[in-house]
Amino acid sequence: MTAAPGGRAASAPLLGHETEPTMFEMSVPGRSSYQLRTTDVPAVSLDALIPLDHLNSSDVDLVELSERDLVGHFTRLSHRQFSVDLGMYPLGSCTMKYNPKFCDAVAADPGLNSVHPGVPAELCQGWLELLVTLEEKLCAITGMSAATLQPAAGAAGELTGLLLMRAFHSSRGDVRTRVLIPDSAHGTNPASVTLGGYEVTTIPSNERGLVDLAALKAALGPDVAGIMLTNPNTVGLFEEEIVDIAHAVHDVGGLLYYDGANLNAILGAVRPGDMGFDIVHMNLHKTFATPHGGGGPGAGPVAVSKRLEEFLPGPKATRASSGAYEWRRPPRSIGRVHGWHGNAMVLARALAYIDVHGGDGLTRVAQHAVLNANWLRRRLEKTLPAAYDRMCMHECVLTATNLKNSFGVRGLDVAKALLEEGFHSPTVYFPLIVEEALMFEPTETESPQTLEALAQAVERIAQRAHDDPESLHRAPQTTPVSRVDEARAARHLISTEDASSRR
Ligand SMILES: Cc1ncc(COP(=O)(O)O)c(C=O)c1O
Repeated sequence: MTAAPGGRAASAPLLGHETEPTMFEMSVPGRSSYQLRTTDVPAVSLDALIPLDHLNSSDVDLVELSERDLVGHFTRLSHRQFSVDLGMYPLGSCTMKYNPKFCDAVAADPGLNSVHPGVPAELCQGWLELLVTLEEKLCAITGMSAATLQPAAGAAGELTGLLLMRAFHSSRGDVRTRVLIPDSAHGTNPASVTLGGYEVTTIPSNERGLVDLAALKAALGPDVAGIMLTNPNTVGLFEEEIVDIAHAVHDVGGLLYYDGANLNAILGAVRPGDMGFDIVHMNLHKTFATPHGGGGPGAGPVAVSKRLEEFLPGPKATRASSGAYEWRRPPRSIGRVHGWHGNAMVLARALAYIDVHGGDGLTRVAQHAVLNANWLRRRLEKTLPAAYDRMCMHECVLTATNLKNSFGVRGLDVAKALLEEGFHSPTVYFPLIVEEALMFEPTETESPQTLEALAQAVERIAQRAHDDPESLHRAPQTTPVSRVDEARAARHLISTEDASSRR
């Protein structure tokens, strides 16, 4: 066992609520981790490359740890996480499905991951072919004409889409100020509209959880740049009047933006392009099972219809008439939205996922996702009724209103108690239009046995609500971290290590 300064044991097993020391606390002067050099390039001293007066002469406060302590640290931390590899993660809207290891193996290929993104096109033809192939497949899946692979996540794709909308209208000398968004939308939609320089007009949902078409028509006018919609929407329901919505928005010269966060529900069944959408972002990390990575780096490609192609970010990998691949900037490009060409390893994983499934396989992904959500909705209808009593798509929004009214147990208590049962919590209090919302997205990767185990866990929690509601207000008790005040934690961040204080 290694004694770290301050008497902290660096490699003791971590139990219960014990805190893992930071790497700075474990650091011991002089300790290091080695890797054997594999290069035959002679080492060059720094001062031969950088003028002396630009070099920092004071010590840099770096962590000094042995490989053994470092591996122990990260392994212990990994045991305190809930992950898609560990168990079911029904976090509605986030689509946390299992990521096949096959895709990781593809991304680990040295032929892909040893190429610097600045390498000239003639030296990385394989990579460019991969990017062009992925773009073509994403366009075929969405029914669009061309795509950019640069955006680093769904929200980054949304901003890109709004910049494309602005470029399109500006190119026609058309000044428009408003973008319509349904009241069930994900929070990133209004945030992106504001960042994109537009005002948000909120469209109410009707009693069926869908866009209120009459209210939408009343809000339309020549100042409307477009509408942002996700279909199925965030209540997990398919917008049945989408063709009428598309006509109404196009009639006033607006564009339709498709938030593709829920694309996994319709793969192979219906395409946004065929529904009338002009701009589509895809969250590859949701639909094509690539790692989300703590809110990013994912990948949020944006596909567009023909009339918006010329504005796409660039440079873009393109197949020239000679058959060779090159970087080309679309003629009226909005410029770069990423330092390089996008999160390339996520793009490679997504292409592997698409290819290994094939067309029929992708359709089955959507079918199983929808089947699993509906199975769960029906299985739990007596314990947590659905907010809208009709067939849902890939996620179901249930409500804990009955538990709240009868026993004072809220949706949040149920979600926290599920962690004690070995399941990740569903999304809570979203969408905002549903009281005590619990949004479950089982995804296609879970088996009937796992779904049944989840349903039984929810039933046990409902029984606890009846027998001992107080215990649920304190849940979870068996996890490394118990109930925290999440709003306070986000607003009053306390850094556990101030490196500057160690100088
Ligand atoms: C409907 C919807 N839109 C947009 C986003 C944002 O996507 P990302 O997390 O990739 O930025 C999400 C994320 O959960 C979402 O559910």
